[in-house]
Amino acid sequence: MDVQRSLDIARKAVERCQRLARLSEEEDRTTRTFLTPPMHEVHRLVRSWMENAGLTVTVDALGNLRGSLQGSQPGAPRLLMGSHLDTVPGAGAFDGVLGVMLALGLVEGFDSEPPECGIEILGFSEEEGVRFGVPFLDSRAIAGTFDRRILERTDARGITMAQAIREFGLDPDGIEAAAYLPSVLGYVEFHIEQGPVLDSLDIPLGVVDAIAGQTRLEVTFRGKTNHAGTTPMHLRRDALPAASEWILEVEREASSTPGLIATVGSIAAMPGAANVIAGEARATLDVRCADDSRRTAAVRRLLDRASAIAERRQLEWTSELRLEQSAVACDREWTNAMVRSIQMAGYPTHRMVSGAGHDAMVMASRMPVTMLFIRSPGGISHHSSETVKIDDVAASLQVGWHFLKQAALHASTRTKRS
Ligand code: HGY
Ligand code: MN
Ligand code: MN
Repeated sequence: MDVQRSLDIARKAVERCQRLARLSEEEDRTTRTFLTPPMHEVHRLVRSWMENAGLTVTVDALGNLRGSLQGSQPGAPRLLMGSHLDTVPGAGAFDGVLGVMLALGLVEGFDSEPPECGIEILGFSEEEGVRFGVPFLDSRAIAGTFDRRILERTDARGITMAQAIREFGLDPDGIEAAAYLPSVLGYVEFHIEQGPVLDSLDIPLGVVDAIAGQTRLEVTFRGKTNHAGTTPMHLRRDALPAASEWILEVEREASSTPGLIATVGSIAAMPGAANVIAGEARATLDVRCADDSRRTAAVRRLLDRASAIAERRQLEWTSELRLEQSAVACDREWTNAMVRSIQMAGYPTHRMVSGAGHDAMVMASRMPVTMLFIRSPGGISHHSSETVKIDDVAASLQVGWHFLKQAALHASTRTKRS
C-alpha cells in the first residue's frame, strides 16, 4: 500500500470515527454503552460501509457486528481483526472504534485482490463494561468464556442484561453460537495507545508484548443513615468518611508499589442528600499490574484495610468482584511478524506492555493475538480530547498491509498442510 493511498484511507477512517462519535446517549458528549439505542445507528452505518467493501455482515447474540470476507485461497483460515464500538462516558472518538475502522480500511485497500486468508472484522459490543459493570463481555462470547449468570446483572435503571439484549432485537439464547470459530488464524487489534509512552519517544507505532492484568471490584461500607443536624459526631456510623479513608489507602498502596496502578473511579453515597448522614457508600476499585502476584497481593492488602476501617468505625462492609483478568502475553510469532511489518514499512519499532485492557486479552484464551498501538498525542484517552495524527494512522495501515501479506502466506502454507 503506497503512502498516498494509506493517507487517503487514514483520513476516511478518522472521519468515520468522528462521525460515529456523534452517535451518543448524551447530547453534549460521546457516551455509547452496551446495546443502547445509538448502537443501532452505529450498526446501520458500519454495516453499510462493510457491505460496500464486499463483506458479509452479521450481528451475533451479544451484539458484536461481524463482517467477513472470503480469502482468494478457497478454504483458507480467517484472520480476525477489530476492536470495540462501545465507549466510556465522555469518551474520545478513537478508543476501540479506530481499530474497527482500520480493519475496514485495510479491506477497502485490497481493491479487487483479497489476500489468500479470509478476514473477519469484529465490531465488539461491550468492552468497557460500563452499563453492567463487567468488561469484555463481547470477546468472552466469541472466546466461548461467557458466564451466563451475568445476564441477570442489572443496569442503573434495573434492566437486566438479558432484557437489554432482547430490547436490541437479539436473543440471549444464541450466545453460545457466537463462539463458533472454525479455522481461525488469530486475532489482530489495532488500538490507540491511550497513554504517553509513544508520544514521549516521538514514535508513531508500538507493538504490544503483553497486556497488564487487572482486578475490578466494588467495596460497600454500611453504617446508619441519620439526620445531619441532630446526630452528634460520636454517635454516628457514617459510611462516607470510611470510604474516603479507604480511597486514600488505595492511593497510598499504589504509589508505594512499583509497577502497580490503582484507581477508584466512582463513589456513590446513599441516600445522597446534603443533610443526611450516608448510611451506605460504594467505591469501585480498578487495579492493574503486569505482574499478577503483585496485583493480587495488593488487592488482598486493600481488602484487609477496608475490613480494618469498617471494624474501627463499627460499620459493615462487603466487596463484589467484577473482573479478575490475568496479564496476557501476545503471541510471540505474530508479534515478531508485526515487528517485521513495521520494519518493512520503514518505521522505528518499540515493544511495550499495555496498561489498558483490550478484547485481545480475552481472545488470547482461544487463538494467537497481537496488537499494534498508534500514538496518542498528549497521552490522553477516555476523554473528548483524545486524538490521533493522520500520518500515524497511515503508518499503521502500511504496517497492516505488510502484516496481512505475512498472515496470508502463513494461511496458504497451513491450507496446503491440511
Ligand atoms: O479500561 C481499560 O483498560 C480499557 O479502556 N477498556
Ligand atoms: Mn477504553
Ligand atoms: Mn479500548
